[in-house]
Amino acid sequence: MTVRRTRFVSTGSALPRQCLSNEDLSRLVDTSDEWIIQRTGIRQRHLAGDGETTGTLAVDAARTALERADVSPDDVDLIVVATTTADHTFPATATRVQADLGMTRGVAFDLQAVCSGFVFALATADNFIRLGQADRALVIGSETFTRLLDWTDRTTCVLFGDGAGAVLLEGTDGTGTVADQGVLSTHIYSDGRQYEKLMVDGGPSSTRTVGHVRMDGKEVFKHAVSNMAYALEEALNSTGFSVDDLDWVIPHQANRRILDATAKRVALDPAKIVVSVERHANTSAASVPLALDEAVCDGRIKAGQLLLLEAMGGGFTWGSALVRW
Ligand code: UT7
Repeated sequence: MTVRRTRFVSTGSALPRQCLSNEDLSRLVDTSDEWIIQRTGIRQRHLAGDGETTGTLAVDAARTALERADVSPDDVDLIVVATTTADHTFPATATRVQADLGMTRGVAFDLQAVCSGFVFALATADNFIRLGQADRALVIGSETFTRLLDWTDRTTCVLFGDGAGAVLLEGTDGTGTVADQGVLSTHIYSDGRQYEKLMVDGGPSSTRTVGHVRMDGKEVFKHAVSNMAYALEEALNSTGFSVDDLDWVIPHQANRRILDATAKRVALDPAKIVVSVERHANTSAASVPLALDEAVCDGRIKAGQLLLLEAMGGGFTWGSALVRW
């Protein structure tokens, strides 16, 4: 039997020029390189400067993915931009990306699931492709999250950074078994009862302002570990794989301690986790595709390997995608 599958064709990423070290931050707020490294594993983050926006970073990442695949923008049917930091309240940043890429057809829209955004957008595009509503899709996670920070709040401002990652997807025919190349499963979840644990205290409808990030760090940490472990186990249970079958896990990069605690809970070898949090910090929806692009480009990820992408963020939202590369 032939079934429609979604395969990854190429990846791309983009980082702002400016880089801020922990030392730089310790001159802004009462913090230290030692505290930040010990509690989070973060050493530096990139900061969007003048002329750099969520849209421009998304275009740069998407253009790289298209060039690497030698695919023209007009051969793409769908663009989904996962972001919490849109260039404007409306229209969708994805429509600007569509125009800037020179794409004159298809459909483009934004998706908001905060740090889980890329996994939600991947699940969405996978459904479009498997249903035959799109043949080629660009899924982009792009954020200028530092523009939501209260730079006087040391409990949040040290944690985040800016950047973008993109993947080009296309439909392919598979056999319907887990030996197929491409997306083998997606699982996404939310629990709105946790709305206030990680949020921005502003918005056009509530305060008519953009607002700043507020977070109950300990609660987020606890839920992040259990939700990411759950999302990983659901992916394995639904496909019949064991944790030892995974070649790489590409998780949302919030905190090195969250990654280690999650690995311990599911008995995953920590050497199989792709980690970039030390250089990028938490880039929200961009973190998974940024880490993925890095591991593809440096040759760690190879054709045929089994990858687990997973994330957790505000809402709370969380989810996973199991992929054969
Ligand atoms: O995508 C999801 C987004 N968010 C997350 O994943 C964050 C999840 N949470 C975390 O990663 C951790 O909870 C944090 C890294 C945010 C905090 O680590 P923690 O071990 O939970 O520290 P804490 O909040 O218990 O704070 C310990 C101490 C406090 O001082 P006192 O009360 O013990 O005197 C804080 O005031 O560390 C202090 N502190 C800092 N000190 C230096 C908090 N932030 C800082 C800082 N520099 N930046």
